[in-house]
Amino acid sequence: MPVLRAANRDDAKALAHLAESTFRDTFAASNSTANMDAHCLASYGEALQAREIADTSMRTFVAEHDGDLAAYAQLRFGPAPACVRADHPGEILRLYVHRDWHGRGLAQRLMDTCLAALRDHGADVVWLGVWEHNPRAIAFYRKFDFTEVGDHVFPVGDDPQRDIVMMRILRSSEPNDQVLKREVGAHHA
Ligand SMILES: CC(C)(COP(=O)(O)OP(=O)(O)OC[C@H]1O[C@@H](n2cnc3c(N)ncnc32)[C@H](O)[C@@H]1OP(=O)(O)O)[C@@H](O)C(=O)NCCC(=O)NCCS
Repeated sequence: MPVLRAANRDDAKALAHLAESTFRDTFAASNSTANMDAHCLASYGEALQAREIADTSMRTFVAEHDGDLAAYAQLRFGPAPACVRADHPGEILRLYVHRDWHGRGLAQRLMDTCLAALRDHGADVVWLGVWEHNPRAIAFYRKFDFTEVGDHVFPVGDDPQRDIVMMRILRSSEPNDQVLKREVGAHHA
């Protein structure tokens, strides 16, 4: 089973590769090549992911299996869209699992880790944007009690796509420490 941990600088290259390949795997069939290329150029690359890993307003987690990255998730702390009512919102910016690991429980472990890390950070609400034509991800988020509260535009190249905004409340009574200790050990601090 893959091991989850906080990402470090040495992961930037492999993370950039995983991030681009999972984005392409998920969306290439529904988007033009030019838009996919433009989005990937602007979003993925060793230097970009290195900056994200080091960004103190973000948290990046990776799942490693036999020396390869199998999945990753990124949290971001900052303003939320108006449809998200929260005092301290936290965003799941990206959550991507390599297709070899879909349906095998890795996404659930990654989500549990994200929710625990968000609570640990003091977030009272978690929100995310998901493409309206991504039914598997929407079903996955619903399983975790996310509900749809609005939408926003997510540009892919020159295509202004509609992302559904989903959110759920985070309760401080849930067992953060156990999840973080189990999944990311000492690395979460
Ligand atoms: C979204 C993702 C993290 C979910 O992880 P997963 O391991 O596939 O999730 P699960 O299999 O536990 O859950 C997906 C649910 O969607 C359902 N599902 C699968 N294909 C579906 C489809 N075409 N339409 C609707 N529901 C679908 C599954 O049956 C499952 O529900 P169930 O457990 O009630 O049967 C993973 O699929 C992934 O990384 N996808 C590519 C990247 C992506 O889309 N990331 C999200 C960007 S916002």
